[in-house]
Amino acid sequence: MKWPLAGLTSIHATLTLAAGNGPYDAAHTTDPTLPNHTLYLPKDPPRNTTLPILIWGNGACSANGTLFGNMLTNIASYGFLAIASGAPNGHGTTTVQLMKDALDWVEKATNKTSRYANVPIDTSSIAVAGQSCGGLEAYQMRDDERVKYLGIFNSGFLDLGFFGELLGMPSEDPVTIKGVKKPVFYFLGGERDIAYKNGMADYAALTGVPKWVGNYPVGHMGTYAEPEGGAFGVAAVNWLKWVLKGDTSQEEWFVGGGAQEAGWEEVDSEGLEDLLTFSGP
Ligand SMILES: *[C@@H]1O[C@H](CO)[C@@H](O)[C@H](O)[C@H]1NC(C)=O
Ligand SMILES: *[C@@H]1O[C@H](CO)[C@@H](O)[C@H](O)[C@H]1NC(C)=O
Ligand SMILES: *[C@@H]1O[C@H](CO)[C@@H](O)[C@H](O)[C@H]1NC(C)=O
Ligand SMILES: *[C@@H]1O[C@H](CO)[C@@H](O)[C@H](O)[C@H]1NC(C)=O
Repeated sequence: MKWPLAGLTSIHATLTLAAGNGPYDAAHTTDPTLPNHTLYLPKDPPRNTTLPILIWGNGACSANGTLFGNMLTNIASYGFLAIASGAPNGHGTTTVQLMKDALDWVEKATNKTSRYANVPIDTSSIAVAGQSCGGLEAYQMRDDERVKYLGIFNSGFLDLGFFGELLGMPSEDPVTIKGVKKPVFYFLGGERDIAYKNGMADYAALTGVPKWVGNYPVGHMGTYAEPEGGAFGVAAVNWLKWVLKGDTSQEEWFVGGGAQEAGWEEVDSEGLEDLLTFSGP
């Protein structure tokens, strides 16, 4: 079987990222047909699972595709394909176009002539998420029919007006939340998080869709620099296992007190009983 990471061991040996604590050792790679992205996937072909897809936007809209490498490698180790905007150690700024490019690419990459032909990518199971500025990019994917779930990490709609363009950040009026028609999970950093008010206001104003919010009170930078992405990394894996792999045992963590036991505060949710069958408000 062809596998995109076969033979890359020597390259990956020079990287410091751990392989993740899930059942499949994972790593990141690049593809010449998608040069401005970083792909995270299991190192060996997984035998008993398919790979749902997480499209990820970095904080600061950074085009460094390995900026959230701890968390994304760990996610891949649970049997996911994660595609971050930006090449490994890339420079510059991203836009939502890179998320669209990743989804267009993944549709093509599953064709018979691609080196991903034998990778069991599940293109029917796609979530888009991002941290801070990357969360604003994720929101911009809200009307893409390929996307089923949105994850907003330390973020919330922010109208920067003229400055948005200056800063190269997506800028949309908070009232935009009324147009979000997909289930959204918010992972915020508590009151010390600069995006706390924005994220909490979005959560409150979001209606007619399944939603969850939790705050891990460490501020805007979360725990992403910790091994496997720390507490935010654990929450992300639980979320993706539930929404993209249909692992309903994760419900307990989100609505049964698991998150609070793990240190999450101000946890709230609505409509999650319809999470996996939800097809629009
Ligand atoms: C799939 O295989 C991995 C690795 O052998 C194992 O850890 C995991 O529990 C298996 N998952 C299922 C659903 O059988
Ligand atoms: C990748 O990014 C560079 C620099 O922004 C750009 O010139 C190039 O067209 C991009 N390549 C693709 C395939 O999008
Ligand atoms: C990209 O992010 C990683 C992880 O934080 C960091 O180690 C690396 O130095 C960054 N690269 C650049 C070019 O900033
Ligand atoms: C199939 O995949 C290859 C490699 O990703 C790509 O270059 C080609 O355009 C794809 N073909 C179609 C019909 O999508």
